[in-house]
Amino acid sequence: MWGIAAADFGAELQLVELPEPQAGPDELKVRMFAASVNPFDRKVVNGMLRESAEHRFPLVPGTDGAGEVVGSGERIFGTFFHRPVGGGTYAEYVTVPAQNVLAPLPEDLDPAVAAALPTAGMTALQLVESLGDAKSVVVIGPNGGVGSFAVQIARAAGKDVIPVGRGDSLVEADALIDLVSTDRSSFEANARYAPLAFNTNYVSSDNAQNFGMKGSREMLVRLASMVQAGDLSVPIARRVPLRDAADVFAGHGPGKTVIIM
Ligand SMILES: NC(=O)c1ccc[n+]([C@@H]2O[C@H](COP(=O)([O-])OP(=O)(O)OC[C@H]3O[C@@H](n4cnc5c(N)ncnc54)[C@H](OP(=O)(O)O)[C@@H]3O)[C@@H](O)[C@H]2O)c1
Repeated sequence: MWGIAAADFGAELQLVELPEPQAGPDELKVRMFAASVNPFDRKVVNGMLRESAEHRFPLVPGTDGAGEVVGSGERIFGTFFHRPVGGGTYAEYVTVPAQNVLAPLPEDLDPAVAAALPTAGMTALQLVESLGDAKSVVVIGPNGGVGSFAVQIARAAGKDVIPVGRGDSLVEADALIDLVSTDRSSFEANARYAPLAFNTNYVSSDNAQNFGMKGSREMLVRLASMVQAGDLSVPIARRVPLRDAADVFAGHGPGKTVIIM
């Protein structure tokens, strides 16, 4: 099979031919239709999990995707986490433990759209739920994967949403979602603008402000239903065939990049 992989930590991605993975006990083998790109994938290639998990090389990144279970033909989408790290979704086939956060892929949902939903969509849903009855919320980084969903979901929940993109000034609000700060001081400076503040990069000294997504099948089903009902639009900036996908970490404007198998 073909996949996009890195030969070592920090190496450039390349299109490579790989052996098809074989499912172990309690694992699913899935023929992927599409995989979406998340910043986490690049961080894994750069060695973020180096100390905490075994990796295999060539390292195929990717956690989000949609595909068809080999054998049963069941169509699914969700997060595909696998140990050792390196058998990710940027490939024609993956094997994953069956207890991953996965949900049925509705017949009428574009697999590329479904593949774009899991990490960013579940993070946005859960972040907005964490806002409680805050009436106004600033979203820093509103045009990326998480931000574009969070803005829509928070508005649908009746909140006054203030998107803060590059060059925009911060304003005070009841709550703040900071999707861009990568160091404590910049987050803590931003957090002064709201009594309730979250970051997604674990940079706050106050752990209550460090948001970590915990996904569920129920959240995936809700996200798919919202898209089907026309209540959530999925900003796909780029659909790239697998054979041309070695540059997917380069950045391609607002929204999601999706690899089509
Ligand atoms: N803790 C968790 O559970 C969790 C879950 C999901 C994501 N995350 C993390 O959350 C972050 C955002 O994820 P994502 O999927 O939304 O990433 P993304 O799709 O890359 O979006 C990030 C957005 O932030 C914008 N941005 C960057 N610097 C900015 C600045 N100084 N001011 C305003 N906007 C700025 C980017 O614009 P440009 O394109 O112009 O750079 C981009 O639109 C990532 O670090 C990711 O790893 C954490």
